[in-house]
Amino acid sequence: MLLLNFYIFTCLLSYTFTFAVFIPDGRESHSSVLIDDKLYFSGGIIHLPNITNEFFYLDVSKPFTTTDNVSIPWIDLTYTGGPQKYLVTACIGGKNNDMIFIFGGSSLNVNQSFVNLFDTNKQRWINITSVGNVPPLRYYISCANLDNGLIAIFSGFDPSKSTITNDLWIFNSLTLTWSLSNATNASLQMYGYRAVTLPDGNILYIGGNNSTGYMPMNKSISDPTPSVRNYFSAVLTSDGRIIIFGGYSSVTVLGDLWILDTTIFQWSIGKILNPIVNLTLNGHTATLVDNYMFVAFGQFGNDTLSSKIFMLDVSRKDSYKWVTEFTPNTTITTVTTSSSNTSFDSKNTSIIIGAIFGSIISLIIFAIASILTLKFIDKHEIYSY
Ligand SMILES: *[C@@H]1O[C@H](CO)[C@@H](O)[C@H](O)[C@H]1NC(C)=O
Ligand SMILES: *[C@@H]1O[C@H](CO)[C@@H](O)[C@H](O)[C@H]1NC(C)=O
Ligand SMILES: *[C@@H]1O[C@H](CO)[C@@H](O)[C@H](O)[C@H]1NC(C)=O
Ligand SMILES: *[C@@H]1O[C@H](CO)[C@@H](O)[C@H](O)[C@H]1NC(C)=O
Ligand SMILES: *[C@@H]1O[C@H](CO)[C@@H](O)[C@H](O)[C@H]1NC(C)=O
Ligand SMILES: *[C@@H]1O[C@H](CO)[C@@H](O)[C@H](O)[C@H]1NC(C)=O
Ligand SMILES: *[C@@H]1O[C@H](CO)[C@@H](O)[C@H](O)[C@H]1NC(C)=O
Ligand SMILES: *[C@@H]1O[C@H](CO)[C@@H](O)[C@H](O)[C@H]1NC(C)=O
Ligand SMILES: *[C@@H]1O[C@H](CO)[C@@H](O)[C@H](O)[C@H]1NC(C)=O
Ligand SMILES: *[C@@H]1O[C@H](CO)[C@@H](O)[C@H](O)[C@H]1NC(C)=O
Ligand SMILES: *[C@@H]1O[C@H](CO)[C@@H](O)[C@H](O)[C@H]1NC(C)=O
Ligand SMILES: *[C@@H]1O[C@H](CO)[C@@H](O)[C@H](O)[C@H]1NC(C)=O
Repeated sequence: MLLLNFYIFTCLLSYTFTFAVFIPDGRESHSSVLIDDKLYFSGGIIHLPNITNEFFYLDVSKPFTTTDNVSIPWIDLTYTGGPQKYLVTACIGGKNNDMIFIFGGSSLNVNQSFVNLFDTNKQRWINITSVGNVPPLRYYISCANLDNGLIAIFSGFDPSKSTITNDLWIFNSLTLTWSLSNATNASLQMYGYRAVTLPDGNILYIGGNNSTGYMPMNKSISDPTPSVRNYFSAVLTSDGRIIIFGGYSSVTVLGDLWILDTTIFQWSIGKILNPIVNLTLNGHTATLVDNYMFVAFGQFGNDTLSSKIFMLDVSRKDSYKWVTEFTPNTTITTVTTSSSNTSFDSKNTSIIIGAIFGSIISLIIFAIASILTLKFIDKHEIYSY
């Protein structure tokens, strides 16, 4: 009986386990954005060359190990019905900075709207019906947040025209309206660049290319200079370092790390203490979570899609280190529902919930089975007599 109970328990546990754990496949040209302790991912190319509508987040309030894909607390939100697009860019906005706005990108749906809005509080998508002046469709853009809920969209690749334009559009995430900026002295048209908003409110546009060449990486900056590139990643640290990683240049996928000190506008090569052999990526995203740069997904130099998260410890200015263990900086306050002294700090909560659920079911089955067994014994004993 105990063995049977154990068997049922194990089945229930593995059932819960199988259905609770979501492990995303490799993808590229997706978007990512961090809101509180959730790192959201949307769209991209999956199972080359299909476009996905997958939408999910990584719960960075929990610890995990990147080399153990089952330990990574992914939460799938695809059921909410997000857009099926790639070559997109995402920025946060709204009154409380709890809205995700996904701009541009390529879709098979000809009616796909230019901007998609996800309310992270209500956990649902909201259709935006933009009236008036709306930017024409464009790919390979990078949005940048400005004050007062404004988001800037610059240039990009317009599939409907042979030429791209260097127009700057401003989206008001509070009123959900667009305006075409009259900013003077705009850079040349470009796509595949990265936009970074500096603390002084200026937006820095880095890299990218146009139909005839790549943008220089050192406009008004003396050497050394990273090689020209597009489809790379860029993050800004709180102490004013822009960290760029990887990208694509002509036929080469890159894996180098460069640091732009925005207090003196000088590039330097990022010294990685433990470089990962042959790690080259493009079409990935990078997001800063505390002192870690999360390099997520993308396409490796050997053309396979990455399903991995690479975490770079960026806490030091002079040296960088790949790490595989993530520990949230805040103390986890989990409501203790178990009477045992089991530690909550090492596994996916869904697995723990599954285990508790499994135990309860198992106990109930045990109780019923015990009663039945007792009854059977009773009868048996009666018959024996
Ligand atoms: C880390 O700590 C900072 C400041 O205490 C907080 O703003 C941030 O949300 C924390 N990050 C995570 C992932 O909990
Ligand atoms: C791409 O999607 C189509 C339609 O859903 C499917 O038939 C095809 O097998 C997919 N391709 C790959 C490589 O998964
Ligand atoms: C998770 O990792 C295991 C072991 O490395 C691997 O066999 C499996 O394919 C991975 N699962 C996914 C969905 O990537
Ligand atoms: C796109 O929208 C138009 C007008 O509303 C509609 O007629 C058409 O069927 C839609 N196409 C698709 C693929 O949904
Ligand atoms: C948004 O629009 C799509 C297509 O037009 C529709 O299928 C969907 O139900 C709408 N969603 C909401 C929340 O109105
Ligand atoms: C741009 O427009 C704003 C108001 O919309 C105006 O205040 C500003 O002077 C304009 N700048 C130029 C260079 O035209
Ligand atoms: C635009 O460029 C011209 C010529 O280089 C310069 O004189 C002017 O100050 C610039 N305008 C702004 C707003 O930076
Ligand atoms: C710009 O980048 C795209 C994508 O990598 C590429 O197809 C195109 O050839 C590039 N342009 C030049 C001039 O290299
Ligand atoms: C494209 O970029 C190259 C390199 O930065 C530049 O020389 C060229 O003028 C640009 N072409 C256009 C049409 O902007
Ligand atoms: C920018 O970098 C190029 C090489 O990519 C170099 O030829 C040029 O001198 C650099 N410009 C400055 C201002 O350092
Ligand atoms: C790195 O790439 C080279 C050249 O493609 C290959 O020979 C080597 O085996 C790779 N090393 C690893 C550890 O994958
Ligand atoms: C492609 O490169 C990545 C990163 O170096 C490596 O992990 C992966 O095994 C490679 N895949 C193939 C099929 O060579």
